[in-house]
Amino acid sequence: MTNSTAKLEFGGDNREYEIRKGTVGPDVIDIGSLYKDTGMFTYDPGFTSTASCESKITYIDGDEGVLLHRGYPIDQLAEQGDFLEVCYLLLYGELPTRTQKEDFDYRVTRHTMLHEQMSRFFTGFRRDAHPMAVMCGMVGALSAFYHDSTDISDPRQRMIASIRMIAKMPTIAAMAYKYHIGQPFVYPRNELSYAANFLHMCFAVPCEDYKVNPVLARAMERIFILHADHEQNASTSTVRLAGSSGANPFACIAAGIACLWGPAHGGANEAALNMLSEIGSVDRIPEYIERAKDKDDPFRLMGFGHRVYKNYDPRAKIMQKTCHEVLQELGIKDDAQLDIAIELERIALTDDYFIEKKLYPNIDFYSGITLKALGFPTTMFTVLFALARTVGWIAQWKEMIEDPNQKIGRPRQLYTGATQRDYVPMERR
Ligand code: CMC
Repeated sequence: MTNSTAKLEFGGDNREYEIRKGTVGPDVIDIGSLYKDTGMFTYDPGFTSTASCESKITYIDGDEGVLLHRGYPIDQLAEQGDFLEVCYLLLYGELPTRTQKEDFDYRVTRHTMLHEQMSRFFTGFRRDAHPMAVMCGMVGALSAFYHDSTDISDPRQRMIASIRMIAKMPTIAAMAYKYHIGQPFVYPRNELSYAANFLHMCFAVPCEDYKVNPVLARAMERIFILHADHEQNASTSTVRLAGSSGANPFACIAAGIACLWGPAHGGANEAALNMLSEIGSVDRIPEYIERAKDKDDPFRLMGFGHRVYKNYDPRAKIMQKTCHEVLQELGIKDDAQLDIAIELERIALTDDYFIEKKLYPNIDFYSGITLKALGFPTTMFTVLFALARTVGWIAQWKEMIEDPNQKIGRPRQLYTGATQRDYVPMERR
């Protein structure tokens, strides 16, 4: 390997592949012509060594526990910024000036209402439907209503679709929640902040006044910021892959929501909280730690480990602090799940298995306890993740569409199935 090329010796031939440098982080070997040159593909299940695209949005250094959006550290954004400011940053690449921010907030709040006819879609779902199932359906259905923002070749339509999704996602999520619990829908209030409006739509009822607690609204805002983007994770890659075929943005985000639902991804905070309930008491932790270490037991400590972070997840630190703030504000002193979480974290951080495998708590470990304290049922946790991640998905989708080198995503395979054989009629099988 030289500074600028990597050599591949193959069948007596020497091939050279360009090494491309990013502004920070690992370089990449550009093997785009490998198949043409050698007739071979690379094999990398789970894409552990594959950069699928070039991006300027988010940078993660998993070994150091660093997460930057457009260069800004996540802790600074979460502690000093607000969610719509982070949305602007992800979409446009720079922090907004005061005027730009006011204009952006105005544009988002003008789109918070959902077409009234769409509210009738909800009644087509069973009341006990998982709200993520409802989210997949409702977001996909946006393309059936907002035809004037589905032409992906028009930059203006792309931006309108982006603003619409950022604006309407809280409304759809809150409606999915209200439908689930059998309460009437609460319409958005544009004078409230993004997070406060969401809490209002979830927890207000028409028969009495509801005042949003500013400490809880700030916690909600932080949770949204912490989940806003995370480079090429499974759901973002899904959105990019769906978008690479030219599918409309609403359909692409619905695909991202479907992928996020899985317990190894967005479903992990729900799974982490369920696990804390299952453990039940601090004295049963060692039993679960042993199960997590046992190769023959499929059990894993939910909320621990990460494909990229081999250090403390920087979002988990802020999440832990936010969790304590929320519990203190609500006067929750003895929370059994929090006690188990703190002890579990302490044991795991000192246990050789977890140290050797670099398994640290991830963001989901504390977000479940916080969301539960805020009043959300576990089934809503992944919905909140989807709501917050929408801006990241959109920013990544826009970046891809605007990339002149963009091609349809089409991975190849190592085929290990049957070779060609003749059809056998049913009676001879
Ligand atoms: N508990 C016990 N062992 C674990 C855990 C865990 N939570 N996570 C990984 N390991 C072990 C695993 O068994 C493997 O051991 P070995 O090398 O002996 O086979 C080793 O650590 C490496 O694991 P891996 O599955 O190869 O690592 P990965 O990068 O493919 O998986 C992960 C990452 C997040 C899917 C995994 O750590 C996991 O399943 N964690 C629990 C689920 C969770 O909390 N997910 C939320 C991720 S953060 C939110 C998001 O970004 O969506």
